[in-house]
Amino acid sequence: MASYLESAVSIAREAGSLLLQFAERRPAFELKGEFDLVTAADRASEALILDRLRSRFPTHSILAEETGAHAASSDFRWYVDPLDGTTNFAHSFPMWNVTLALEQAGQMIAGVVYDPLRDEMFTAERGAGAYLNGRRIHVSKAARFEESLLATGFPSRRRHENVNVHFFHQAAMFSHGIRRAGAAALDLAYVACGRLDGFWEFGLNPWDMAAGTLMVIEAGGACSDMKGQPHSVGGPHLIASNGLIHEGIVSLFAEVWNGKPRIPLPQIGPE
Ligand code: IPD
Ligand code: CA
Ligand code: CA
Repeated sequence: MASYLESAVSIAREAGSLLLQFAERRPAFELKGEFDLVTAADRASEALILDRLRSRFPTHSILAEETGAHAASSDFRWYVDPLDGTTNFAHSFPMWNVTLALEQAGQMIAGVVYDPLRDEMFTAERGAGAYLNGRRIHVSKAARFEESLLATGFPSRRRHENVNVHFFHQAAMFSHGIRRAGAAALDLAYVACGRLDGFWEFGLNPWDMAAGTLMVIEAGGACSDMKGQPHSVGGPHLIASNGLIHEGIVSLFAEVWNGKPRIPLPQIGPE
């Protein structure tokens, strides 16, 4: 399996260098949806990654954000996000990455999340642990929700239907705080290396979370959906955590699902 991970690392590094060249020129954005941005950098990075994957692994299928599904004959499938955090990238906000993951027969076996700005390469292989620039990483030891630092996100697509503000409010009331940095794969990598204790989000795509969820598991953490049921990369929502606070998040969120939040959103009154 090492050669798969080594390939993913070298392709992510190459795509990361290309993205850095685009970043210096601050590329114009276009809209895929009402507020859903894409840039020439997303497309160029994806073209590079597809080219490299096809030449190394011609029988592998690929699911890539900008060009969709590319079916092939084997039971291997790559998930490709050529630029995760496009909105940040388009505004020169320094939180974005390139992420690749490989699934075999329905099981994620390898993943990388590469942050070119910090030259941080997060990697994971099933059963072999998670690493940052070659050093083993582990989730945090925060044992109580009340002492956790969390992250979440608010996807651009279908934002009018997103109920996350209710979950955000409860989590903000009982934790050290919530970060909303805008690059889901990095959020997950940060849970894996202990910079964050937990993360949740609605409406992620498979390429956003394929590598990062494997990384969290391999770093000793846990993943589920937002009701505590088993996680899948095709699922509608995700919680990833250090494992120790997982039940605390699920039970806090259960109150929100049931319409009985512990602390209601304050009313806005006259000054
Ligand atoms: C987005 C980012 C963002 C998350 C969105 C994703 P993109 O990916 O990961 O943090 O909130 O759900 O779609 O579109 O920049 O690759
Ligand atoms: Ca993404
Ligand atoms: Ca993307």
